[in-house]
Amino acid sequence: MPTIETSGGELHYTERGVGPVALFVHGFPLDSTLWIEQIELLAGERRGVTVDLAGFGRSSTVVADVLTMERHADDLAGVVDRIGVDRVDLVGLSMGGYVALAFAERHADRLRTLALVDTKATADDEAGKAGRDAAAARLLHEGRQAFAAGMVGGLLGPDAGPWLRARVRQMIESTRYETIVAALAGMRDRPDRSDVLAAIPVPVGVIVGADDALTPPAAAEAMAAMRPDITLDVIRGAGHLAPIEAPDAVAAALAALFDRGRPGAADA
Ligand code: MLT
Repeated sequence: MPTIETSGGELHYTERGVGPVALFVHGFPLDSTLWIEQIELLAGERRGVTVDLAGFGRSSTVVADVLTMERHADDLAGVVDRIGVDRVDLVGLSMGGYVALAFAERHADRLRTLALVDTKATADDEAGKAGRDAAAARLLHEGRQAFAAGMVGGLLGPDAGPWLRARVRQMIESTRYETIVAALAGMRDRPDRSDVLAAIPVPVGVIVGADDALTPPAAAEAMAAMRPDITLDVIRGAGHLAPIEAPDAVAAALAALFDRGRPGAADA
């Protein structure tokens, strides 16, 4: 698996498929295997690149109290440089969506399209911020297994079967303690990026599971309402992890968005 050196260590990424590059960014506290189905389904039309964000998955351990969205965004820009393309279709799920919006703020010239999946543009409110600190304390008191067991129910919709639940639980249990704590702090401190979303100069698509309990369809509708050209796909039979709960429907929505980014598409 290829790696890139960043200021904080080694970042792992995978590549598969042919065509223009689509870069996939996982959520919290997950890893790049979240995108296996999408990479496979879209391999005929996109060279799919999935990254383990700093501290996650097979990327190196990070020594930082706060893993900021900006740091992840700059790391991703480093990956784009490394793979040697000017622009990418950027796809971010949940925390990956927060990172994608930070990328749009800092590296807009590297975007061809932006897909915001099961995420939101707003910041945490005061209760949400306090909830991040409480979650970190719970993790350190109760351990990763209890933390993972407590999260899985909220991440997946009611239609998700036992093996999907086991897969997600294992992904969470494999994430390092220090990464989880630093990522919670990074999400707590992230700013509202609604203004960034409103100004993104490329096609934007919002995708949400109809049963997403964490970033519900109302949050997706609020993002889509920011501009008449933002498309909204509500995925039936899926919760917060729509790309693994309803892979075909999500891949179809992504393919349609990628198509809007092709040269001349806006005039067609
Ligand atoms: C995620 O799925 O990345 C997280 O649930 C996002 C969040 O906690 O805000």
